[in-house]
Amino acid sequence: MSSAKQLAVDGGIPVRDVEKQPWLKWPIYDENEEKALLEVLHSGKWWYVEGHQGKDFEKEFAEFQNAKFAVACTNGSAAIEIALRALGVGCGDEVIVPPYTFIATASAVLAVSATPVFIDIQGDTLNIDPELIEAAITPRTKAIIPVHIAGRPAEMDRIMEVARKHNLFVVEDAAQSVGAAWNGIKVGSIGDLGTFSLQASKNLNAGEGGLIVSNNEEYADAAWSVTHVGRVRSGRWYEHRVLGSNYRMTEFQSAIARSQLRRLPDQTEQRDVNARYIRSQLKDFPGLELPKEDPRITTHANHIFTLRYNQQGFSGHTYPEFVKALVAEGIPSSSGYVPLYKEAVFNRLEQGSGSWCQAGRKVEYSKLSLPVCEAVCQDTIWISHVLLLGTKSDADSVVEAISKISCAWK
Ligand SMILES: Cc1ncc(COP(=O)(O)O)c(C=O)c1O
Repeated sequence: MSSAKQLAVDGGIPVRDVEKQPWLKWPIYDENEEKALLEVLHSGKWWYVEGHQGKDFEKEFAEFQNAKFAVACTNGSAAIEIALRALGVGCGDEVIVPPYTFIATASAVLAVSATPVFIDIQGDTLNIDPELIEAAITPRTKAIIPVHIAGRPAEMDRIMEVARKHNLFVVEDAAQSVGAAWNGIKVGSIGDLGTFSLQASKNLNAGEGGLIVSNNEEYADAAWSVTHVGRVRSGRWYEHRVLGSNYRMTEFQSAIARSQLRRLPDQTEQRDVNARYIRSQLKDFPGLELPKEDPRITTHANHIFTLRYNQQGFSGHTYPEFVKALVAEGIPSSSGYVPLYKEAVFNRLEQGSGSWCQAGRKVEYSKLSLPVCEAVCQDTIWISHVLLLGTKSDADSVVEAISKISCAWK
């Protein structure tokens, strides 16, 4: 076999030599970010209370996300916690969450002393399965946290319908989905509150940072209070009416985030062009399953390009072998989450070994088995949004690497 055809994992030449042909560098910035940071530096107003960056960013972000209000905070994990606290979710309450997500979706529930109740996801969207929500509702259920995973909006029509029927709050975890829209409405502003992350890997990057959005002024004010040590907007400085903490974002982060927000529409478009192209090339590719098309997704944020792998289509070669081979070909890719309920923290919770709220229903996390999530965790490949920001030839190298592996294993 020629060394071009031989897999890089077996000593052949990779499809992409990343030394000679590096991928786009993330984050993307120029003198605009530099100017914005220097402006804050020289103003001497480095914190939210004195400066204008945070307040301006909140206005701009709310407008961008089709929400009336936005509250900036330290990060996306705190944002979920703040949202739950703002809605009064607490000790003894239950919150329905998907298990295929970052830990923060469920740990925020624990942080407010409530109990996460996991339900399964859909294999063809990787999002929470709305048809399983009703069966998980108990008299203690207070809220649902749908996660718009990988940049793909969850089925918000059905989720809102079930939530309204049972009087439950909806907190959208949109950490991975800034700019994504469902039926023309940006995610985060469909439920009662929506949360975002500005952590370095996210499509809108300020190093760290978070936001809570809402169309409901009462909820937005409550989130502002929790973020600002329990103060109220119109209150005295030393007046703390609710339990909060200092979750404020710095002016430096807001300044960077405002510059990055201006770049986001073009970047979202570019990711979409490349994601659609790769999809068109891999459609019907034996052994690979792409997430299903849904016309209700009017903007996909493409935070992660996901593929499900079936070893039958690759002559029995396993999923870890495939990920290893793809990485060796110069395509940064990874396997993603494990089902969250398998994380040790839930075992400790189940055993009562930790400072948990003891008033909640005891959930047997160790006996939980949600088959779709477990299968997805065993066969899903992640390709970062940064690869989608490149050229058509960058997108081609993803397809070429997959085709090369498939041919070599025939
Ligand atoms: C789905 C989801 N929720 C919440 C978070 C938490 O955001 P942060 O890292 O800003 O705390 C993340 C970040 O990885 C995430 O992917």
